[in-house]
Amino acid sequence: MTEQTGLEALSSESRRFDPPADVAASANVTAEVYEQAAADRLGFWEEQARRLQWDTEWTSALDWQPPYAKWFVGGRLNVAVNCLDRHVAAGSGDRVALHWVGEPEGDTRDLTYAELLRQVCMTASALTELGVQAGDRVCIYLPMVPEAVISMLACARIGAAHSVVFGGFSAQALVDRITDAGAKVVITADGGYRRGAASALKPAVDEALKRCPDVTSVLVVKRTRQDVEWTEGRDHWWSDLVDRQPESHEAQAFDAEQPLFLLYTSGTTGKPKGILHTSGGYLTQAAWTHWAVFDLKPDSDVYWCTADVGWVTGHSYLVYGPLANGATQMMYEGTPDAGGRDRWWSIIEQYGVTLFYTAPTAIRTFMKWGDDLPGGRDLSSLRILGSVGEPINPEAWMWYRRVIGGERCPIVDTWWQTETGAMMISPLPGVTSTKPGSAMGPLPGISVDVVDGEGTSVGKTGGGFLTLDEPWPAMLRGIWNDDARYRDTYWSRFPGRYFAGDGAKWDEDHVLWLLGRVDDVMNISGHRISTTEVESALVSHPKVAEAAVVGAADETTGQAIVAFVTVKGTVGDAESGGDAFAQELRDHVAKEIGPIAKPRQIVLSPELPKTRSGKIMRRLLVDIAERRELGDVTTLADPAVVKAIDDSMAAAAGAKR
Ligand code: WTA
Repeated sequence: MTEQTGLEALSSESRRFDPPADVAASANVTAEVYEQAAADRLGFWEEQARRLQWDTEWTSALDWQPPYAKWFVGGRLNVAVNCLDRHVAAGSGDRVALHWVGEPEGDTRDLTYAELLRQVCMTASALTELGVQAGDRVCIYLPMVPEAVISMLACARIGAAHSVVFGGFSAQALVDRITDAGAKVVITADGGYRRGAASALKPAVDEALKRCPDVTSVLVVKRTRQDVEWTEGRDHWWSDLVDRQPESHEAQAFDAEQPLFLLYTSGTTGKPKGILHTSGGYLTQAAWTHWAVFDLKPDSDVYWCTADVGWVTGHSYLVYGPLANGATQMMYEGTPDAGGRDRWWSIIEQYGVTLFYTAPTAIRTFMKWGDDLPGGRDLSSLRILGSVGEPINPEAWMWYRRVIGGERCPIVDTWWQTETGAMMISPLPGVTSTKPGSAMGPLPGISVDVVDGEGTSVGKTGGGFLTLDEPWPAMLRGIWNDDARYRDTYWSRFPGRYFAGDGAKWDEDHVLWLLGRVDDVMNISGHRISTTEVESALVSHPKVAEAAVVGAADETTGQAIVAFVTVKGTVGDAESGGDAFAQELRDHVAKEIGPIAKPRQIVLSPELPKTRSGKIMRRLLVDIAERRELGDVTTLADPAVVKAIDDSMAAAAGAKR
């Protein structure tokens, strides 16, 4: 959680920016939209669903058997047709859908809507040739290349659900996700470009598939041209299989509740859960929120969401929302500092980006790098700035507004989750005023309620747990293969309400502030990682006896992973403070989960602080990790343990400095 000090919170709570007159004058929506949705919530969502093209209209907007929702019951549509064919049919085939920028300088591709459609059609036929049918699952493990978008839409076109696995995840993480989803086909690449070099992807797939006997085919994009191992009969080059397919493909309409994708995300227990999203309601909310919250003008805007397609933001706001709206957008393969720390700003300058969507971690990193880098580029094309993934602290918000937005662009801080599928809480530019660090309030058609520990609403004053008390179109339809977990995780803490896992509070002006997770999920650079997942990875190392993992506040990444570990016997380099062993453990976690889950710090300790009933005292470990004054430790079985851990933490910090 990015904690604000009381003073900062006070000053930003009272600071307010009104919607700029020029934005208000031409905004896609007006304040009336809130009243309209409040008066007739379902009617409001039906109107937004009509922005899409349906083959058969629905018979009722919502069938709600808590906690199971069906939206636009009986309606039929094809998601890919909505993202492509209808724009081409409307005469926008020559409009650029994707300005793709590879990490190596000068490596670019522009794909118009007509060209993207052609490629999606060919890929849809290729998947059919590999035996993929409606209802099947396809695993996509790709870098940020156009083929990632093409593959997702090709699955949607034939009614298969995709399960995109972030390219930074390990072979083991792939095995877990492929097995749980029961995917038969994997789409990957030889590698991709990141941090100035070609990195490999196919070896992780080869490694994973040794343990996934049900995968029959692998489709491989040639991106870096590095050597890859090849399994005859199973592996197919994209350039062979896709390129020889017919250029058109007759799309069939599917039920509004046809599964569109699974996306695995971390929960409070060890195993990641496959969040299930379906078609009609999801696309309705992704498209409407993208259009309204970014005030999208498809003819003139150039939109850029910096998220990777491996995360939900990439799904809803790089693929489905923008393409359903016929937007022209950027897609960038690499890291922000590849080819210079002003790479992003040079892309904005070169392509005249008008709408920009990124995460607070990135903003804080740029703050550290200094004002000169963005200052040296012409960013005057920007109109609206978005933030997502974690709470944005008021300082970062103000910097974003001043240095990137030239004090001119409204900022939309958008709160939502993998589970919600689309934005839920956000200002509307041109309509809502904004306060630095606040997501302001629920979007039209969305109902939130902050409750206390007993589940009683706090009204519109005070803080507590964020819940959603009405179903919404893009809501998850369940956890793949685990209905009990679905009910338990989201619907049991406060019966009848969806519990998001976040804390929130209303301020004096009835404006909403998101306060971060209140469960064991950490938020590292906007990526969700569970403490138990990292703990399981650590204890799978033969020398680890016990591990406790906490998220500690971090200036740049929001939270950072700190692991407290007790070992079996002694470690080889004990005299040198165990540095080599700690590194070995960090690498082990990277291998088990992925580099993003590597602890920032590993503290080797003789014991972990436990209550007399044997429960690890996490709160205390957070205090230790954040080097805070330690409170009452009298409930501990052995208070001396804390002193020992605190000392080794201090020694490690000293060594770092
Ligand atoms: C956090 C990312 C504060 C929150 C779209 C949530 C935020 C989790 C915000 C979901 C925001 C996301 N302000 N916190 N604007 N956006 N979060 O599933 O804790 O990767 O529960 O979805 O990120 O993360 P997820």
